[in-house]
Amino acid sequence: MVTGAVNGDRNEITTVDRDLSPKPTEAIELATHTEIRMSKLVTIFGGSGFVGRYIALRMAKQGWRVRVAVRRPNEAMFVKPYGTVGQVEPVFCNIRDDDSVRAVTQGADAVVNCVGILNEHGRNSFAAVQDEGAARIARIARELGVARLVHMSAIGANADSDSAYAKTKALGEQATLENFPGATILRPSVIFGSEDQFFNKFAKMSGLGPVLALVGGDTRFQPVYVDDVAKAAEMAVLGKADAGVYELGGPDVQTLRELIQQMLDVIQRKRLVINLPFWVGSIIGTVFDILQTITGGLFANSILTRDQVRNLRNDNVVSADAKGFADLGVEPVATEAVLPDYLWVYRPSGQFAAIKNSAKNVKP
Ligand SMILES: NC(=O)c1ccc[n+]([C@@H]2O[C@H](COP(=O)([O-])OP(=O)(O)OC[C@H]3O[C@@H](n4cnc5c(N)ncnc54)[C@H](OP(=O)(O)O)[C@@H]3O)[C@@H](O)[C@H]2O)c1
Repeated sequence: MVTGAVNGDRNEITTVDRDLSPKPTEAIELATHTEIRMSKLVTIFGGSGFVGRYIALRMAKQGWRVRVAVRRPNEAMFVKPYGTVGQVEPVFCNIRDDDSVRAVTQGADAVVNCVGILNEHGRNSFAAVQDEGAARIARIARELGVARLVHMSAIGANADSDSAYAKTKALGEQATLENFPGATILRPSVIFGSEDQFFNKFAKMSGLGPVLALVGGDTRFQPVYVDDVAKAAEMAVLGKADAGVYELGGPDVQTLRELIQQMLDVIQRKRLVINLPFWVGSIIGTVFDILQTITGGLFANSILTRDQVRNLRNDNVVSADAKGFADLGVEPVATEAVLPDYLWVYRPSGQFAAIKNSAKNVKP
């Protein structure tokens, strides 16, 4: 349709002027027509990750072309059906490299940075990814004249923190704003959704035995649904959100222990939940960290790191004076509305749990 309309204009020009090359003014008109009809382009760094893919889907539905910039585009092919043929494309990029970031930012109208890590692997360190990588993306986006930049940070970002995660998140925010003052920064609390690494992780662990050990059981969280975070990012890309920092939390604040109990109720398993002191958590985290180091990364510590234990000492909730969903006109979804939709796989009888439970009431 787009091509047809442009060709139509071209035909009109050739018949009137009998000259195949359009005159400068006509060329400008043509370019304007083409630009109006050509959809905009957003580059989503980390667009194959848990949050990035929801943003990619939303932007594709808006009719934008989406570049999903990741280190392993071959593992990100699942994003292609989010749009029509060629609309959503995984492309190689490593945000630790200038040329790589420049290549995928070229021609973009907007950029979303969704790259973040919970644990360091080789050269993908907290500083390299969350601080220097964020700075690089913001600087290059400004140099290339990108109109909008959305940066995904996290509640708890704090330059004075003893946690490398929290510290580099704060440094990344500062660097983003220094290089791209009009950026929108989103700071979510813990994010839930079918691919999350939070409820899924604890639900898997509960299948291992009768006891579930936690660190930071009394720490408070404000879980936020992944698509609500994506909605906020989409609004920022579309210019429907003012620039600035937004803290994103769901409707409920619960302790980690309460959240785990809620998860256990959903998966219909009874477990003894014990809360380990932070110093014990620190020792366990250190052991797993050392194991990762001595195995040269063959064992990736996705269980508990020492840095995570440091973070777990602080509540992870939206601060009273922060901008948030209310300012965006978004009503966030509660955990109880979503958890059963994806945690049922961890029930003792999976999808047959409901039938089995109702069969218990059948009299012989
Ligand atoms: N999930 C949460 O509960 C939560 C809470 C608060 C804040 N956040 C923040 O939200 C953002 C998104 O989190 P997420 O949970 O979606 O993370 P995720 O699932 O781990 O996704 C990370 C993405 O980044 C890409 N990536 C990693 N290193 C890269 C590099 N050097 N260059 C280019 N791409 C790289 C990964 O793809 P490749 O491996 O293929 O490169 C992947 O697409 C992060 O900034 C995170 O800190 C998340």
